[in-house]
Amino acid sequence: MAKYYKIRGARPLSGSIKVGGAKNTLPKNIVASLLTDEPCVISNVSNIGDVTVTLDMCSSIGTQCEWLSPSTIRISTPQVISGSIHSQFSGINRIPILMLGPLLHRFGMAEIPLLGGCKIGPRPINFHIDALRALGAEVQLVDGKYRAEASKLRGTTISLPYPSVGATETILLSASLAEGTTVIKNAAIEPEVIDLIAVLQKMGAIIAVDVDRTILIDGVRRLRSFKHHALTDRIEVASWACAAIATGGDVVVENADQLGMMAFLNIIRKIGAEYEVLDNGIRFFSQGSHLNPTFLETDVHPGFMTDWQQPFVILMTQAEGLSVLHETVYEDRFGYTDELRRMGAEIQVYKQCLGGKPCRFLHRNYPHSCVIKGRTNLKGIEMTIPDLRAGFSYIIAALVARGESIIKGVNYIERGYDSIPEKARSLGADFEVVEC
Ligand code: EPU
Repeated sequence: MAKYYKIRGARPLSGSIKVGGAKNTLPKNIVASLLTDEPCVISNVSNIGDVTVTLDMCSSIGTQCEWLSPSTIRISTPQVISGSIHSQFSGINRIPILMLGPLLHRFGMAEIPLLGGCKIGPRPINFHIDALRALGAEVQLVDGKYRAEASKLRGTTISLPYPSVGATETILLSASLAEGTTVIKNAAIEPEVIDLIAVLQKMGAIIAVDVDRTILIDGVRRLRSFKHHALTDRIEVASWACAAIATGGDVVVENADQLGMMAFLNIIRKIGAEYEVLDNGIRFFSQGSHLNPTFLETDVHPGFMTDWQQPFVILMTQAEGLSVLHETVYEDRFGYTDELRRMGAEIQVYKQCLGGKPCRFLHRNYPHSCVIKGRTNLKGIEMTIPDLRAGFSYIIAALVARGESIIKGVNYIERGYDSIPEKARSLGADFEVVEC
């Protein structure tokens, strides 16, 4: 049944909420389990669409999944019964490409449909395909599906043109059981990537993270079962932190981990808001009513995450003065600001690299910088979510705004956030879910 959110804003959020396992690690933990025929256990599993879809894809090729508790799964794939992921999974998320390596090892061939995920730029997969070919796979695009074949993958040196999270993960998942050593140069080193390395290491892989974005993988012959407590979702933490501060509230985000959030925490302090690292999480609150504007550039880790950008833009509509945001990871991640302008926000999007240094989008005509003039009073409107992170930013905007907001397209947001209405209500929000 379709549903939408009805939010009446202008109330500070206050209280405590718990954040669970990360949308950008859980599916990869599940895909890693395909590398062994033994059962694997994952705890701290969030109830989100991307977990459900990944489990459905895996069960279509022979994975059995049992829920040991509401947040713990045992998954095992004693035998891979097909190397082909059905086209019903086409266009949903970025996970099928990560399954190519494990399926090649287990089945000798793999076929996946075209990928989906948020529409925030072209999002090509050339680094993944080139890496798989370098490892010895034959990969072709046939009738709208990527088909890969290999009798054996062999270690090699792969230099990534950009430190892509997904391409680094494809290589990790493909090279752990390859013959010989693989070196990834210019690898992504996001905490989500390190978490995948930790899972593979528990399974018996030999992987070293060396200096200067270099990762070394010594292929092993066999991988075994693992038990893993999923990494906390640092994007969800930042999303609730921005909601807390933008509404002038005071919220403890339980399970938040300081280490993956340093770039975010620095900016929070710079704009004049505050946080306190507790034993069980991080408390976010504003110091009085004034927020300072800032200049910010998104970047790969350890920079300010691109996925923190959208919630942060709402926060900047509440700061006094001009803020500048330069998005350097995705070409086209400001489309969602149209709706915010209708709410009263003063935001201009630019094709130039505004701020510090030029990025790889220089002179390429992408709308990848924006200037936000604050502070503005936002007013509630009806809006439709275009993608996951934009969706949460609309929720924050609605929580800040005077009057009622209707938010449609909530299926996008449920791909990556667990129990938003319940969490918001527990913080005092006037937040209704309307079934239609
Ligand atoms: N890129 C290429 N070719 C490739 C791969 C990437 O040109 O073969 C480019 C992309 O177009 C993009 C940049 O490299 O401009 C970075 O992309 P990356 O591969 O790092 O992103 P991803 O693995 O597809 C993951 C997250 C994203 C997150 C990015 C960056 C998952 C499922 N998705 O995507 O999360 O923004 O890393 O940290 O892990 C989100 O959660 O809302 C989300 C978009």
